[in-house]
Amino acid sequence: MPRPSLTRFGVSIEQDLIRKFDRFIEHAGYGTRSEAIRDLIRARLVEEGIQDPKAPATGVLALVYDHHKRDLEDHLTALQHDHHELIIATTHVHLDHHNCLEVILLKGSAGAIRDIGAALASFKGVKHSSLNLTTTRDL
Ligand code: NI
Repeated sequence: MPRPSLTRFGVSIEQDLIRKFDRFIEHAGYGTRSEAIRDLIRARLVEEGIQDPKAPATGVLALVYDHHKRDLEDHLTALQHDHHELIIATTHVHLDHHNCLEVILLKGSAGAIRDIGAALASFKGVKHSSLNLTTTRDL
């Protein structure tokens, strides 16, 4: 793959802030400030990109729920079948006697993924949910 052309630019920054940033870089394991800054810029652009409901996106939804809650698994499965076009894969883990973890991989528009994520999380008996979204749009 051809290496993208690089642009160098200067940044003025308070000493205290760059000291904190350098500590972060070291802790996170970056080799250089440039690598760290590029990653921060990409992360911010992804965050901005997924605000657009039409943005092509992938998502990882994790649900922790009560295994004993009546009909909950049926509801979760039925809703996933209704939106099968968004769902790539589902993994179910029996965490302990009471709790299940379901990890659902999604692909579609950011808005559609957010909607089904919110709908699945809102069922009674779902104790915790987290949705990690990223865009597949070129940055
Ligand atoms: Ni289970």
